[in-house]
This record gives sequence, structure tokens and C-alpha cells, in this order.
Amino acid sequence: MNEACMTDKKPDICFTLVHRGKEYQVQVYRGQYYSLMTLIADYLGVFGFGLCCGMGSCGTCLVSISGNNTIAKRHGLSCEMPVNDELANVVVTVPDDI
Ligand code: FES
Repeated sequence: MNEACMTDKKPDICFTLVHRGKEYQVQVYRGQYYSLMTLIADYLGVFGFGLCCGMGSCGTCLVSISGNNTIAKRHGLSCEMPVNDELANVVVTVPDDI
């Protein structure tokens, strides 16, 4: 875990983004991004990612999420995911092929 995320100091939320085999440690403030999709677009600049509907109907923003202490994964539409405490310390994987 990132040391900045183990204190009461901001940034508030820390998690790991994975794309094309690379890991990115993300540190953000609550409310800094409208959705996980906008954060991913800002951090990774993945061409074609989530540039469609932005309201949960096209599926171009699909990601998988796993906890740091579990191998269980769930999938979700990142345009519908707020950047809040539910993302703290998880691993968000963006598909290689979009
Ligand atoms: S951008 Fe279309 S479902 Fe998320």
C-alpha cells in the first residue's frame, strides 16, 4: 500500500490501475473525478475507452475490479462508478483490447 494513503493526509483514495501489463498507482481526492471512466481517460489516455454513451448502455468502459486480498473479481461499467471509498486499495484492470 502506498504510504500517502496510510495517513489522514490527502489524497483520500488510492488504488491500482492495470493496463497492458503496467501498473499505475493512482492517488485522488474525493470528488476530483466525475466517474472512474473520466479518471481512467485522464490517467491512461486509452484510445476508444468510454468515449461512447457515458451512461451505462454501450459497454465500452467495462473494467474488472479485485480487492488486494482476494482473487475474486467483479466487472463493472466505469462510467457508472463514482470515485469514492469503495475504490480504496482495489485493483482496477482495463481490458487490453477495447
Ligand atoms: S461509456 Fe457506455 S456504458 Fe460506460
